[in-house]
Amino acid sequence: MERTPFGTAPGGQPVEVYTLTNRQGVEARVTNYGGIILGLRVPDRHGRFDDVVLGYDSLAGYLAESPYFGALVGRYGNRIARGRFTLDGQPYTLATNNGVNHLHGGLKGFDKVVWTAAPFENDQGMGLVLTYVSPDGEEGYPGTLTARVTYTLTGDNALVFDYHATTDKATPVNLTQHSYFNLAGDGKGDILGHVVTLNADRFVPIDPTSIPLGELRDVTGTPFDFRRPIAIGARIGQEDEQLRNGQGYDHCVVLDKGGKAGELTLAAHVLEPTTGRVMEIHTTEPGMQFYSGNFLDGSLKGKKGAVYHHRHGFAMETQHFPDSPNQPSFPSTILRPGEHYRSRSVYRFSVSGS
Ligand code: BGC
Repeated sequence: MERTPFGTAPGGQPVEVYTLTNRQGVEARVTNYGGIILGLRVPDRHGRFDDVVLGYDSLAGYLAESPYFGALVGRYGNRIARGRFTLDGQPYTLATNNGVNHLHGGLKGFDKVVWTAAPFENDQGMGLVLTYVSPDGEEGYPGTLTARVTYTLTGDNALVFDYHATTDKATPVNLTQHSYFNLAGDGKGDILGHVVTLNADRFVPIDPTSIPLGELRDVTGTPFDFRRPIAIGARIGQEDEQLRNGQGYDHCVVLDKGGKAGELTLAAHVLEPTTGRVMEIHTTEPGMQFYSGNFLDGSLKGKKGAVYHHRHGFAMETQHFPDSPNQPSFPSTILRPGEHYRSRSVYRFSVSGS
């Protein structure tokens, strides 16, 4: 595995890029800064390779401003209302960094720390084991959390994310991966033509600050019904309170686990019709945040001069539901001493048509 210098983090730690490859020519470039996936080259239906994730050419780009491009997100992916929760009778206050709410781990989340990276190769493929020990009290969270995340690029063009964590005090944990995809190729325009199928009968409706209302709502008859393949753009402009609250799709969908909670089941299938590129996601998680890049506004200049305008990338972040520490009816996100947090998501790339 190739390993190249990528600069120095604000804390003085060296940052490196690890290039994972497989025999089919797929290449994933990953840095130990924030576990960020910098680039991902996959073939189209004619065997032409292109980079399908958004990001920057240099570390400086990520340090200056990044809406979590490619990043490993923690301790808690998604929002916690007003950055507050009570656990075992004890109130906790987290950093707030999204209006009044806490988002994606706070001001300095797992996307902005340097992870210890250990490259490996095995019969599945090649990858990196990323480790980070988050100190007790970091961003307001209780307990020392030891997180270990394994990225594997397999021989059959899948990126596998295995998340593991332990703690010495009860704490919320909800780790995810925040790559922004454009399967037509990075910098090739908006993602509204991507045809999406979601294995979700329900979604998590939100208020205007993107905090869950508490119910899980049936998708039937709403623009959130992706049970049959449909373009992202087909209904995104409809007059709909939930689309208004998210400024587009920015909602957690409730995956249909078919009685297999905690097992790897289908979450999403995405086809980009002009290139035939397909991404299929399986996860052990109960939910997935589907974000249609609504807050990209043309102000970020990305790789090779790309300008990221409105909806030029989308994210599919496998996770537990937002604000779970304050929502007693949602599956628990609390990890206790002696327990093991485990989560697995598989993003597989292929092509359709000829
Ligand atoms: C959130 C969006 C947010 C984006 C970048 C997504 O996970 O749901 O609201 O703008 O991340 O921070």
